[in-house]
Amino acid sequence: MAIALISFGGLAAERSNAAAPKLSQGDRLWFQCRACHTLKKNEPHKLGPNLHGFINAKAATRPGFKYSKALTTSGIVWNDAELDQWIKKPNDLLKGHRMNYAGMTDASKRALLIKYLKEKTR
Ligand code: HEC
Repeated sequence: MAIALISFGGLAAERSNAAAPKLSQGDRLWFQCRACHTLKKNEPHKLGPNLHGFINAKAATRPGFKYSKALTTSGIVWNDAELDQWIKKPNDLLKGHRMNYAGMTDASKRALLIKYLKEKTR
């Protein structure tokens, strides 16, 4: 009986592995953001704004989201350099914003995530 149970468990594990979608490295990095953000057009805002179309746009201009005064008046435009700094350490780029995220120290990971954001928010 014990043997039957073990082999059944093994089979179930194999099945679920086969069914799991392959995640790209970008997808994995996005896990750090997705609790608060969505990417695609017409997806709802969460704790943070939906990011569709934000690349190279002025900060705090996604319609229908209530931003902090700090971000609204920051004058930031989301080009590569500003975005890299934001993801690295939001508090270093801007004081008084409301994004509760400590930062991503690895530059190559940030570059991957930025590439992913560009693809997914078009
Ligand atoms: C705990 C929730 C939370 C997490 C995690 C989070 N964000 Fe945010 N994000 C926010 C909030 C809230 C704002 C709006 C900040 C403000 O108004 O000051 C924001 C703003 C932004 C903006 C500016 C949007 C605009 O319209 O100007 C970008 C870009 C952004 N986040 C990207 C990211 C990325 C990339 C990650 C993951 C590395 C991430 N965020 C993780 C909550 C979060």
